[in-house]
Amino acid sequence: MPTLPLRVDRAASDPLPAQIAAQIRGLVMAGTLRRADRLPSSRALAGDLGVSRSVAEQAYEQLLAEGWLHTRRGAGTYVAPTALAGVSPPPAVRPAPSPGPTLVRLDTGTPWIDPVHRAGWRRAWREVSAAAPPRGYDDPRGLPELRRALADRLARTRGLDVDPDEVLVTAGTADGLRNLLPELPQGPVAVEDPGYRAAVETVRLAGRRVVDLRAGEPVTDLRGCVAAYVTPAHQHPLGMVMSAADRLGLLAAAAAAGAVVVEDDFDSEFRYDVAPVPALASLDRGRVAYLGTAAKIVSPTLRLGWLVAPASLTAAITHRRRVTHAGAAWPSQRALLTLLRDGWVDKVVRTARRVYAERAPRVAAALAPYAELAGPLAGMYSTWLLPHADAVRARDSARLAGFEINLLRDYSRSSGLTGLVVGFGGVTDDELDRALDALTRGLGQ
Ligand SMILES: Cc1ncc(COP(=O)(O)O)c(C=O)c1O
Repeated sequence: MPTLPLRVDRAASDPLPAQIAAQIRGLVMAGTLRRADRLPSSRALAGDLGVSRSVAEQAYEQLLAEGWLHTRRGAGTYVAPTALAGVSPPPAVRPAPSPGPTLVRLDTGTPWIDPVHRAGWRRAWREVSAAAPPRGYDDPRGLPELRRALADRLARTRGLDVDPDEVLVTAGTADGLRNLLPELPQGPVAVEDPGYRAAVETVRLAGRRVVDLRAGEPVTDLRGCVAAYVTPAHQHPLGMVMSAADRLGLLAAAAAAGAVVVEDDFDSEFRYDVAPVPALASLDRGRVAYLGTAAKIVSPTLRLGWLVAPASLTAAITHRRRVTHAGAAWPSQRALLTLLRDGWVDKVVRTARRVYAERAPRVAAALAPYAELAGPLAGMYSTWLLPHADAVRARDSARLAGFEINLLRDYSRSSGLTGLVVGFGGVTDDELDRALDALTRGLGQ
């Protein structure tokens, strides 16, 4: 009986039986072991490899269960007649490339959550662990108490009067859009340009064409489009607020085209000068699908958002969610409920707004000598227009100092706008100062 060319590595993380089984599988697939070849007894194999007999037995049992080997009572262990032979083994798993130096990201999406609020965060998760989860797949619209709390918040902060049954809890903004798209007729979707990249990608992945809507300009014609995706409270990433006249013009264009307006209301809480502008959806609930998110007021890692769709679409979306088991994770929903009820979200928003109101002018003071601010200061990032080559030089200088900053060109399609998009939420004051120094060094060259 042949001695098999096997070896074990006691320092490896894989258990010894798994190592042996994997190598025997490989020998069969490579054709080294052929159908009906007899294998050594488990005792002999254990002796060859210097392992206990039970290790060899476990390896054989695994391969017997998988159908690679078979055994005849009292007659030994053989390669099964049906086992594939001579098949090339799967390619070795390539080791992941070693990550480069970690850069601190000054992105548009990371909010400032002051560490003073940690106790409230922990309290919410303690409550989650003490609560009993639903027994099975729950209400596809989301946790009823959370939908009630969200409806209250929408009325209080966004001028949006909705019934809790109209609120669908989603796994974030793009998920809300994914929920909506299958319920719309065939056809392209208009998206602001420059605009939200996740929305563009989501529309394309749904097999639809994206039509460019020049950001900041009045929308007068949506003919041929089934929807228009917009950020009226704070254009992403340029920063303008859609004027009252442009809101009415957009709704009229959508009505004329029979299109739905998808309102992405991602960071409207963070105006520092005036009260947040009411949601576009408050003007026409039958035409506007409203998308809200927990990403800026709690954390992007919670992966929660909410969709308030026109009534004509809500039932169909709910049905689809029920049959596909789509929905948001219960623990996150339960935690958000506590964070809303405890007033934690309001406190975080108030603190963060103060921090952004102080940081935004600092960013402006540093960059204004070199670039043009694209919109009013609001939210947790600002966008600066400048030639692409200058933006790249500044970005590279920031990289050398350990910071990653987005280029406006990555948000632009046919508009071709270039510049820098500088987030100031997810960093400390010291990091922001160092990043601004590096950017201005790059711009001053
Ligand atoms: C324009 C815009 N909408 C929505 C979001 C939030 O997305 P999500 O709810 O999927 O976290 C972001 C995050 O950065 C954003 O920039």
